[in-house]
Amino acid sequence: MRIIIGSDHGGFELKESIKQSLSKDMKIEFYDVGTFNSESADYPTFGSMVAQKVQRGEFERGILVCGTGIGMSIVANRFPNIRAALCHDTYTARMSREHNDSNILIIGGRVTGKDVAMEIVKVWFTSEFQGGRHQRRLEKIADIEKAICDSQSTRPAEK
Ligand code: RB5
Repeated sequence: MRIIIGSDHGGFELKESIKQSLSKDMKIEFYDVGTFNSESADYPTFGSMVAQKVQRGEFERGILVCGTGIGMSIVANRFPNIRAALCHDTYTARMSREHNDSNILIIGGRVTGKDVAMEIVKVWFTSEFQGGRHQRRLEKIADIEKAICDSQSTRPAEK
């Protein structure tokens, strides 16, 4: 599996630690969209790059880190077919895979310690979607997305 990773300055340090763990411990290849230092940077820039490439199928999954994880969640979940999960512990990481088939993992670099973050990443990669009733719920989300898209494309221009 090849994944894509990104952060703003608030998540930069944790992103670098995650990258080390991905390559050394987990042998997972990744593409880093930045940011590449701790200077102030805007989370929508990096969140949208990662979400768009996962949405288009260029990468199977993504990881995003900002200060709290909230900004990245808001950005990533605006993209159709993106199920971005902000996880603070291994339980939510596992559930986000098993029940929600999350395709982007989000962690807050200023609220989650490094060791916990590494455990979250490992659990997220080793947990599998369970399908069944959960698949039905994902299909409902896809229906909602489609209805919103359809209504926007047919709505007369607002004055
Ligand atoms: C940057 O200061 C901070 O706002 C950002 O990293 C993130 O926490 C936004 O949700």
